[in-house]
Amino acid sequence: MKTWFVTGAAGFIGSNFVRQVLEEDPGVRVIAFDRLTYAGNLENLEGYLDHERLRFVRGDICDAAAVDAELATGVDAVVHFAAESHVDRSILGCQEFIRTNVQGTQVLLDAARGRNVRCFLQVSTDEVYGSLGPEGRFTEQTPLHPNSPYSASKAAADLLASAYHHTYGVPVVITRASNNYGPYQFPEKLIPLFITNLLEGRKVPVYGDGMNVRDWVHVSDHCRAIRAALERGRPGEVYNIGAENERTNLEITRRILSLLGRGESMLEFVKDRPGHDRRYAIDASKARAELDWRPRVRFEQGLAETVEWYRRHEGWWRRVKVGEYMDYYRKQYAER
Ligand code: NAD
Ligand code: DAU
Repeated sequence: MKTWFVTGAAGFIGSNFVRQVLEEDPGVRVIAFDRLTYAGNLENLEGYLDHERLRFVRGDICDAAAVDAELATGVDAVVHFAAESHVDRSILGCQEFIRTNVQGTQVLLDAARGRNVRCFLQVSTDEVYGSLGPEGRFTEQTPLHPNSPYSASKAAADLLASAYHHTYGVPVVITRASNNYGPYQFPEKLIPLFITNLLEGRKVPVYGDGMNVRDWVHVSDHCRAIRAALERGRPGEVYNIGAENERTNLEITRRILSLLGRGESMLEFVKDRPGHDRRYAIDASKARAELDWRPRVRFEQGLAETVEWYRRHEGWWRRVKVGEYMDYYRKQYAER
């Protein structure tokens, strides 16, 4: 039986990953480690907290003693999702981004180095490459050119991880995915914010001219890619993860309006995000060739299912929007 130490396991992608591993990898035990910041929600793991192969630990990746205590129990791989992840928040203030994304990654790398883990999987983002013009796609050779405080902190973490591989031989594998969508995404990000606003009868704020392009991958496909990278990724290598679904924000907005039967009057153009990257597009041919991975979810179907998921989980997102989800840890877990 292998043990994977999964940081940020109560967030959007981390919780999708943990559920997928518990469902599909019977030979893997998970230590789910999360500080439960505003973005961490134990309800995302509801139904799995008592699973025999899951142990949840509330902890901060910047806390070296807490991290090392877990790695000392015998961990095969660190799967590092924990991060401050929202670009707009990083523009308002980036102290927490440097603390968690950079310092926290350094703490984990040191712990992994001391405990000889078999793989340190650094979950990164295409945003480290910066912004594209109308042509071309990001490859693993594209120079890093982060433009937001968030992406700068992720690029710093990636560089530290590479340096730990080069200097100390820590078996680091880096994945860089494009924009994820799917169930349990915090309603501050474009797709869940727009769906839940419309379900509440509120307008959706499109930044600038709405012509910025993002390249969407379903969270389940991203999680499968990470599992493939854990099995087949080569230490020291970077793998881009994307599903060739470039869409302008306006296209996404109109699709969501149509899926929810709302008109253009619900769309409102607002002031642009400062330093707003124009276009992201991922060339994932290396992951397809080396990891034997293919995305499975067609974007139109995945988006329709995501809208449906938010329709059916109104309690989840309403509790998130008013902050009540923070009580879940206390009621369901800490008091046991
Ligand atoms: P999220 O904001 O939904 O979740 C982050 C999780 O990390 C939360 O559960 C939070 O409580 C936890 N966390 C934050 N600080 C912590 C700390 N100091 N110690 C322990 N836990 C802490 O983020 P997400 O969208 O699920 O993203 C997960 C990872 O994937 C991030 O590293 C992000 O950069 C990367 N990524 C995200 C996307 C995307 O589209 N969402 C795309 C590519 C890569
Ligand atoms: O590309 C991967 C990245 O995708 C991840 O690393 C980040 O963690 C994740 O947050 C995401 O970053 P983006 O900035 O692309 O995602 P966001 O959902 O914030 O915005 C998507 C696009 O929609 C972007 O062009 C800004 C725009 N937008 C966003 C919001 C929240 C709007 O027009 N209005 C909005 O209210």
